[in-house]
Amino acid sequence: MDLPGFTDQWQTERQKLFKSVPPEGRTVRYLDKEFLVYPDTFWPFADSLPLVTHFRIEPGESVLDVGTGSGVIGVFACHRGASRVVGVDINPAAVRSATHNARMHGFAATMEVLQSDLFDALRDERFDVVTANLPFRNKPAHDVVAMSQWDTDFKVNTRFFEGVGRHLRPGGRIYFVQSNFGEIEATMRLARSAGLRVAELARESIDDTRRQEFIVYEMTPG
Ligand SMILES: C[S@@+](CC[C@H](N)C(=O)[O-])C[C@H]1O[C@@H](n2cnc3c(N)ncnc32)[C@H](O)[C@@H]1O
Repeated sequence: MDLPGFTDQWQTERQKLFKSVPPEGRTVRYLDKEFLVYPDTFWPFADSLPLVTHFRIEPGESVLDVGTGSGVIGVFACHRGASRVVGVDINPAAVRSATHNARMHGFAATMEVLQSDLFDALRDERFDVVTANLPFRNKPAHDVVAMSQWDTDFKVNTRFFEGVGRHLRPGGRIYFVQSNFGEIEATMRLARSAGLRVAELARESIDDTRRQEFIVYEMTPG
C-alpha cells in the first residue's frame, strides 16, 4: 500500500468536497451535534475526535483554538464549561462558519472568532488551554482550502510552537492533533525545542483497518 499516494488522492477529493458546498452552506453531523460549513471550510471530521472526546476543560477556563475551521473544537470547549473561547483561522470562510456555529450552539457571548494568521490578532492574551488541529502534513498548499490539510515546509506548525508559549497561562496545557500519516517526529522535535513535555492522550482510527490514525497529545511547559 502506497500510503502517501493514497492519502494525497483522498485529501484532494476532500478538498473538492469542501469547495463544492453551496453558498448557503451545508449541515454536517458530528458526534451528537450539527455544524454548518460554508464553502471552502474544513468539515468536522474524525481527526478532531480524540481531542474533543478526551480533552479536559475545567468550568470557567479560557481556551484558544488555533486553526478553528468550523469551530468544532471551540464549540465543544464551550459545551464543557469554558468561560471564554477564542477561535482563530486564516481562512475567512472558516471564520464565517465558526462564528455561525458558536451562535447556533448558543455561545455567541462565550466564543469569539477572529481571522488571524496563528496568534497575530491576539495581542498578549494568555489562555488556560490551547487546542490545535493544524494541517499535519508537510506538503505544498497552493490555496486556502489546501492549507487546511497541508503545511508548506511545515512553517505554520513551526511558527505555532515558536509562539504558543506567549499565549499560555502558567500551569496551562496544549491539546495538539497529529496523525500516523503526518509529521509526528517533526512535531515532537518542535514541541521539545519549545520546552514542552509531551504525553499521548488518545488515538482513534478512521476504521478497522487502522490505516489512518489520529492522535492527540497533551503538552505542558516542562
Ligand atoms: C485540519 S483543519 C482543522 C479545523 C478544525 N479545527 C477541526 O478540527 O475540524 C486546519 C485548520 O487550520 C487553519 N489554518 C491553516 N493555516 C493557518 C494559519 N497560519 N493560521 C490560522 N489558521 C490556519 C485552516 O484554515 C483550517 O481551518
